[in-house]
Amino acid sequence: MSDKQQQNKLWGGRFSESTDAFVQAFTASVLFDQRMYRQDIQGSQAHATMLAEVGVLTTEERDAILQGLDEIRQEIEAGEFAWSVALEDVHMNIEARLTDKIGITGKKLHTGRSRNDQVATDIRLWLRDEIDQLDAELLRLMNGLLDLAEREAATIMPGFTHLQTAQPVTFGHHLLAWFEMLKRDRERLLDCRKRVNRMPLGAAALAGTTYPIKRERTCELLGFDAVCENSLDAVSDRDFAIEFCALAALSMTHLSRISEELVLWTSAQFNFIDLPDRFCTGSSIMPQKKNPDVPELVRGKTGRVNGHLISLLTLMKSQPLAYNKDNQEDKEPLFDAVDTLAGSLRAFADMIPALEPNREVMREAARRGFATATDLADYLVRKGIPFRDSHEIVGKAVAYGVSKKKDLGDMSLSELRQFNDQIDDDVFEVLTLEGSVSARNHIGGTAPEQVRAAVARARQALGA
Ligand code: ARG
Repeated sequence: MSDKQQQNKLWGGRFSESTDAFVQAFTASVLFDQRMYRQDIQGSQAHATMLAEVGVLTTEERDAILQGLDEIRQEIEAGEFAWSVALEDVHMNIEARLTDKIGITGKKLHTGRSRNDQVATDIRLWLRDEIDQLDAELLRLMNGLLDLAEREAATIMPGFTHLQTAQPVTFGHHLLAWFEMLKRDRERLLDCRKRVNRMPLGAAALAGTTYPIKRERTCELLGFDAVCENSLDAVSDRDFAIEFCALAALSMTHLSRISEELVLWTSAQFNFIDLPDRFCTGSSIMPQKKNPDVPELVRGKTGRVNGHLISLLTLMKSQPLAYNKDNQEDKEPLFDAVDTLAGSLRAFADMIPALEPNREVMREAARRGFATATDLADYLVRKGIPFRDSHEIVGKAVAYGVSKKKDLGDMSLSELRQFNDQIDDDVFEVLTLEGSVSARNHIGGTAPEQVRAAVARARQALGA
């Protein structure tokens, strides 16, 4: 690089030789941080507006800056902006272009500010916008689940523990279990937003600035809830990004668990549900294949978001106060965590309402697996037999059923009475699948009536 080019750097004053070409590329962040251009401009415009109000800039200077930045935004959006690696990052690219356009006034924008508080502000503004979009997508998915749960409130399927048939449940109830996971994800997302939405700007490099700035004013202009209270903490804190990755990792973990069930259930062995073709792909060699790629990919992508959380924790663990260049490494993990969660939520919000349950297959699976054994034990308890004894009695009846290949509900009264003579005709009400699920009729239980009530409560809580 020539000395002339070195002088183009916005910090070139004290340097006597050019940056090594590889070092320049190695230390630059513009190839990835340019995606924060809107927030960078937004932050600069608020800063300039405040500087004019406190008399550091004239109103003419302010207007030239605001106008120049508006034009730069348009240039970027039109694809006409020439990003330069020599100018290192999004901040210096935009500032240098401003000076190109409006001359010496452009050089006044950075008064009372540092890239350290600027970048921390940009990331927070960017993440806040992304959180709001993620929330909309999460809500779309949650509402889709509620609609499906309501429709399938009385659909019977086997409930599993250890992946073995345990007790009959309703499909709607199972869907609402997924809903609960997402509901907690949303609580965490909105809670994280509170700590994202605080303003570092005004901390300058690390100690604050000698200009009579009004941070409360910039804070108000940018829609932050509050300023970061301590300038050293303001430029170094990345807790908000770690918190975000933690909630993203947990949310991906939930989507991954749901994916695992979808993959199992779409297999020929379960055949509980069909996924429409538009969410699946075929095999290039096996003509019969229809693979559940979307859930498989979401399950697979969970690993990288978990990785981003570990990256950020490790990034921060040994940093002394205040800003260190290490922090430039915060962006790629955070960006990818946002993109991965956004894509996964979008795919799920599109796919969930399109699930087609094979109700007869689900019902038959519940009927075959001795799923009403607990109901028979509870029936005997109501006849006065202690639960441990009734458990033993039903265990024997199940063993008999296994040897005869007969479910409890398919045995005759005399067959059942071999195991206990308290068993009467009324036993068949509890041995039916409908009887079994309807009997679990309390808040949080699987009865269709409870599923419908839970859907109504959830809709009300979402304000839908
Ligand atoms: N590109 C930098 C980052 O992402 C901006 C802040 C640079 N500050 C500095 N003092 N070198 O963190």
